[in-house]
Amino acid sequence: MILSIESSCDDSSIALTSLDSNKLLFHLKLSQDDEHNKFGGVVPEIASRLHTKTLPELLTKTKEFLNENLKGLDSIKAIAVTSEPGLIVSLIEGVMMAKTLALSLNIPLISINHLIGHFYSLFIDEPNVIFPLSALLVSGGHTQIIEAKNHNEFKVIANSLDDSFGESFDKVSKMLKGDYPGGPYIEKLAKNYTEFKLDSSFSLPLPLKDSKDIAFSFSGLKNATRLLIEKELESKNLDSSFKEKLAFSFQKASIQHITHQLNRYFKNNNIKHFAIIGGASQNLTLRSEVEKLCNQYNIKLLLAPIQFCADNAAMIGRAAIYKFKNKDFIDPLNLEPSPRSTAREFMC
Ligand code: KG4
Ligand code: ZN
Repeated sequence: MILSIESSCDDSSIALTSLDSNKLLFHLKLSQDDEHNKFGGVVPEIASRLHTKTLPELLTKTKEFLNENLKGLDSIKAIAVTSEPGLIVSLIEGVMMAKTLALSLNIPLISINHLIGHFYSLFIDEPNVIFPLSALLVSGGHTQIIEAKNHNEFKVIANSLDDSFGESFDKVSKMLKGDYPGGPYIEKLAKNYTEFKLDSSFSLPLPLKDSKDIAFSFSGLKNATRLLIEKELESKNLDSSFKEKLAFSFQKASIQHITHQLNRYFKNNNIKHFAIIGGASQNLTLRSEVEKLCNQYNIKLLLAPIQFCADNAAMIGRAAIYKFKNKDFIDPLNLEPSPRSTAREFMC
């Protein structure tokens, strides 16, 4: 089996994936949300220090599982680790652990690009992967449409020009003095509203409505949301009814923007399978709106189980299977974590 490690941002995670069935055998994850919540966002130094504490704890539990159920660490045939893109001080923690394990156990090391990792979250419990497959990646750092031809060819065909989808939820939550991460907070507030109750003073502009290229932009929406908050604050404090209306309106506009761009993409391309991946793919309204659109085009929509949408090591282990079978290993002395994507799979 492969032991995989993920530490690209604020989640520490370790998983074991079978090389026989390609399926997940064991998975642990410790989220740091509560620690960062106090500061309204991820504090890099705290994230790094917490990985130093939690990764060895998770490894200890993984070893216990291996000793009780299998032949201990001898059952591990390779170590896989997220090496890019991400918060560099966080990536370093997982990469150091992975290098040390590979060198001390004398087994190969496999480096995985985090974005490609999210793609494989769709297949954690599936023996086979579907190609070609286009995906909308919505996370804290990215909003992209990625086309995957095979295990070695991933092409980004649309990007955000500014903030990402998840990041804009985080920022609006912060403006409302809500939780971090902001996505689940805004989604929960928005659930209390239905459109017919919303008056027009809450309507927000649709970004890039007339642009020629397929692209995403959330900073205009975020600023329009900020203006609504500032206007409300001129006369009163933000009450829960205002927050719910605002969250509803912001979520609606940002999802409408996504489906507007996807509609243009589907119109011009013959897509058979489409997926939504990344932490923000947990958003149920996003899922159902994209599903409606896919149905119009007879496209099959693939979604990862909710527990594997956000960062986790299970998707990294699943991504590593093909690299293991192709002996696509990296010398621990040469692996350098990177804040940006450099993977050759993206170079096509
Ligand atoms: O993929 P992920 O776990 O970490 C990154 O690689 O960035 O994504 C985290 C992002 C955060 O910005 C978070 O607010 C957003 O995903 N998110 C959501 C929801 N759940 C998480 N955004 C919108 N709606 C949600 N339900
Ligand atoms: Zn992620």
